[in-house]
Amino acid sequence: MTPTAKSNEAAARTSALAARMTYPGGSVALPLLRGSEGELGVDIQKLRSATGMITMDPGYANTGSCRSAITFIDGEKGILRYRGYPIEELAAKSSFLEVAWLLIHGELPERTELAEFTAEIKRHTMLHENFRQFYAALPKDAHPMPVAAAAIGALATFYQQPDKDRGVHDAVIRLVAKMPTIAAWSYKHSLGQPLLYPRNDLDYCSNFLHMMFATPCEAYPVDPVMAQALDLLLILHADHEQNCSTSTVRMVGSSQANLFASISAGISALWGPLHGGANQAVIQMLERIAAEDGSAAQFVARAKNRNDTARLMGFGHRVYKNHDPRARILKETCARVLQRAGASSELFEIAVQLEEIALHDEYFIERRLYPNVDFYSGIIYMALGIPVNMFTVLFALGRLPGWIAQWLEMREDPDFRIYRPRQIYTGAPLRHYAPPAPGA
Ligand code: CMC
Repeated sequence: MTPTAKSNEAAARTSALAARMTYPGGSVALPLLRGSEGELGVDIQKLRSATGMITMDPGYANTGSCRSAITFIDGEKGILRYRGYPIEELAAKSSFLEVAWLLIHGELPERTELAEFTAEIKRHTMLHENFRQFYAALPKDAHPMPVAAAAIGALATFYQQPDKDRGVHDAVIRLVAKMPTIAAWSYKHSLGQPLLYPRNDLDYCSNFLHMMFATPCEAYPVDPVMAQALDLLLILHADHEQNCSTSTVRMVGSSQANLFASISAGISALWGPLHGGANQAVIQMLERIAAEDGSAAQFVARAKNRNDTARLMGFGHRVYKNHDPRARILKETCARVLQRAGASSELFEIAVQLEEIALHDEYFIERRLYPNVDFYSGIIYMALGIPVNMFTVLFALGRLPGWIAQWLEMREDPDFRIYRPRQIYTGAPLRHYAPPAPGA
């Protein structure tokens, strides 16, 4: 399915280099793998059989779990590419559905392929009518994220053979097509409003905004500038290689669980505040600064103080030690969207001040902390009228094609095995069962 995957994999296998590890009692040569951008990895697949030892890497910060030809990140240089294409070019010239195709198939679609893909997506936007009872059964104040995860999992009960050839194709189409409906219904349910049918005369993002904000009593004329801004946000979130939720999708899929079950697990992983929830925290931080005295400088001083729990939310990244390219794109979009929406720019102005101060502050320079994707995305969501508890659901909507592409790539990998890490046991040594003494 993905020629790029095959050529990259060949490149990663043919490295003639090796590393030598010495340990008490011997030494072992470990092959080195070289990726298509020159990055090296030590292949430890034979380590345990050769030495009896395992590696230890909590948080997997130095562990490659797979070869992948989907997304390339160079955190030192602030580079992000999908299938080799710079994120800046895709953001400026492409559309979310085109990027979805690119991620899933490995190449940009021909014009006719994109037209067919779009038409197929439109044919599958509706949810089975029984989903109305499914939503009705959930508490009204349910957070839309677990509602969306449960609804995606429930797709496997409506489409029960999603694993075989045509089945996988149909499952991919259904997921991309139904996710906006599932997301919008999760929100409508939380309001107690009627769940709206999709409108297939609208494009992907306009249809989503219609289902979010129209009611049976009142139409919602979608502003194309806003729909375009949403499309851009989805492109920027579409993949980010082996992060927590993507690794979860691969982990669950590695047991050969079906695509719906694997994606549902990915959504649950994304829900956590350390992963998908940071843009919500950025808004809370900006609102707090605005409500107090509006002093960005004072907040930056607090974020630097070890005795203060305040952190500059939306700053810093495990991988990017330079500008997150997505944040740069979003900063420009933010100004444009706020102007168009006629929305207050107070939070944006505070954010710009925070960024300006932090980028010239020794503390942030030394630690190489830059704005990440979450720093400006929340302000744009707010300008679009998206409520804060839906931010993570929109992240999931954007990340969906990446999860699908990674799941498919894993299934085609010749080295495909169930994910099964090892551990260093630290519990009690052998002891023997004795029944409790009578009367004890
Ligand atoms: N504000 C103040 N200090 C910070 C910040 C920040 N936002 N981020 C890191 N630091 C300091 C940290 O205190 C530590 O200082 P020291 O060396 O004196 O102990 C140093 O920088 C290294 O930080 P770390 O926590 O060891 O770095 P990490 O790679 O483990 O964490 C991070 C990365 C993103 C969790 C962290 O930078 C952070 O908490 N940022 C704010 C939350 C945020 O914006 N999260 C969104 C991440 S992007 C979304 C995604 O791609 O999923």
